[in-house]
Amino acid sequence: MLTSYDASLAAVSVKAGVEVLLVGDSLGNTIQGRETTMAVTLNDMAYHTECVSRVASSVFIVTDLPFMSYASLEQAFSSSQQLMQAGAMMVKLEGGQWLTETIKQLTDRGVPVCAHLGLTPQSVHKLGGFKRQAKDEISARQLLEDAKTIANAGAQLLVLECIPEQLAAEVAASVTIPVIGIGAGKETDGQVMVVQDILGLSEPCPGFAKNFLSETNSIETAIQNYVIAVKNKSFP
Ligand code: KIV
Repeated sequence: MLTSYDASLAAVSVKAGVEVLLVGDSLGNTIQGRETTMAVTLNDMAYHTECVSRVASSVFIVTDLPFMSYASLEQAFSSSQQLMQAGAMMVKLEGGQWLTETIKQLTDRGVPVCAHLGLTPQSVHKLGGFKRQAKDEISARQLLEDAKTIANAGAQLLVLECIPEQLAAEVAASVTIPVIGIGAGKETDGQVMVVQDILGLSEPCPGFAKNFLSETNSIETAIQNYVIAVKNKSFP
């Protein structure tokens, strides 16, 4: 899985063998130059989903529900409607047990849901910064319970961001849905990265990222090498 926000990089990513494209609200950082994802709107997400889906409908497209666009059930329904009609095949939301009913109601209505736990950037001010999460026993147990609850509620995919590798492995072994990691070690079922981070375009770049473009002069080969490295577990 790799983030994607525009038609040209989406097309290259598909050619390079990426199986799932994430239209992430990280576009607030990568495209809009913001410090956080908080100001990203539903219209922004729909616009970028359309750009990606025009050229990438042969792969699975997941789109983030942005900050405060799923704070109530009604909001979650209408926000998901807009994103699915723009070309998303699944929506992603950030949070744990408080989203149980939202996930159930969305999946009951035909909207596949990906949940996101660990470092959830929409809650950055509550978390006190972009920091590694679930480092102590209590928060690790809470995250594990959250994962089980949202999987039981019907979530079909789970992203774990910036948590200890051992905990990510435990979560992946405890739920039957695919678990995708970012900064969470190599024991998850798959990996997701921000495309700018693997092309050396991010400043600052997260410590868990790798610049795959430094070894080639082709963006397509760089993304292909990312896909190969994830599949043969040489990255992360
Ligand atoms: O918005 C995003 O790109 C994400 C990934 C970093 C997982 O949520």
